Amino acid sequence: MTTAPTPLAKPLLRVRGLAKRFGGNVALAGIDFDLAPGEILALIGPNGAGKSTTFNALNGQLLADAGTVELSGQSLLGLSPQAIWALGVARTFQVAQTFASMTLLENVQMALLSAKSGLFQAWESVHTMDTLEAHDLLRQVGLDELSDQVAKNLAYGDVKRLELAMALASKPRLLLMDEPTAGMSASERLVLMGLIRDLTHQPQDPSRAALSVLFTEHSMDVVFGFADRILVLSSGQIIAQGSPSEIAQNPLVQQSYLGASFQYPNARPRA
Ligand SMILES: Nc1ncnc2c1ncn2[C@@H]1O[C@H](COP(=O)(O)OP(=O)(O)OP(=O)(O)O)[C@@H](O)[C@H]1O
Ligand SMILES: [Mg+2]
Repeated sequence: MTTAPTPLAKPLLRVRGLAKRFGGNVALAGIDFDLAPGEILALIGPNGAGKSTTFNALNGQLLADAGTVELSGQSLLGLSPQAIWALGVARTFQVAQTFASMTLLENVQMALLSAKSGLFQAWESVHTMDTLEAHDLLRQVGLDELSDQVAKNLAYGDVKRLELAMALASKPRLLLMDEPTAGMSASERLVLMGLIRDLTHQPQDPSRAALSVLFTEHSMDVVFGFADRILVLSSGQIIAQGSPSEIAQNPLVQQSYLGASFQYPNARPRA
């Protein structure tokens, strides 16, 4: 087990020495990791470990104090969230961001419009949009049959799937998901993460670049069930990174985060 990244020949995302402090509080002490095309990478660790700070530094919401972040070799540091999004980095939020009074179709049309124009435009123009692509995105997340329903009537798990369809509208190469299954039931969690796995591992549209996912999560069944690789952050430092089985057996991770009673592969919901 190592805390250093295994350098990838052609990573989608390459992070080196990423550091951020708030006053005297070191939120990130200089972290290094790579993310491969098509990979699902989980970022875990106790409260205050620096997970959200990492996310915010990656998508431009926060300016890091030091380090480099490259997407396919292009530096992201100093770019605005909008510019980083335009380069193919989408994000979903802990509390889903959708338009409650619009139908599912209109929600995805708004996202498509935003992806094409760079910003949300007047409501009237949504109705003039070609709906085929919006239906296709809803189909990808299993919601097309509900396309004319108003979003506020959806079960919470379905809202999260709608948010995923909206994030996919910009055809991202990298999807950042902050606690994607927070507030969901166990069965809703499996459905959402199964979708993510299908999107990354078997792209349904060959014209799309492979989708990579970086997510934070406190639910260990999700982390160990769906991540290809796991990074463990503690007090702003990566204390371990490796496969789910390597992380589960790491004494330092057991001691500082998982607890001695943690069982693997029992935590893994798929064969
Ligand atoms: N805007 C801010 N101003 C001051 N301190 C901050 C700010 N954002 C984060 N911090 C501090 O930085 C450290 C890392 O916080 P961060 O939110 O990244 O942790 P986290 O791993 O996401 O935790 P959680 O699991 O609770 O979401 C914490 O000590 C936190 O108090
Ligand atoms: Mg957080």
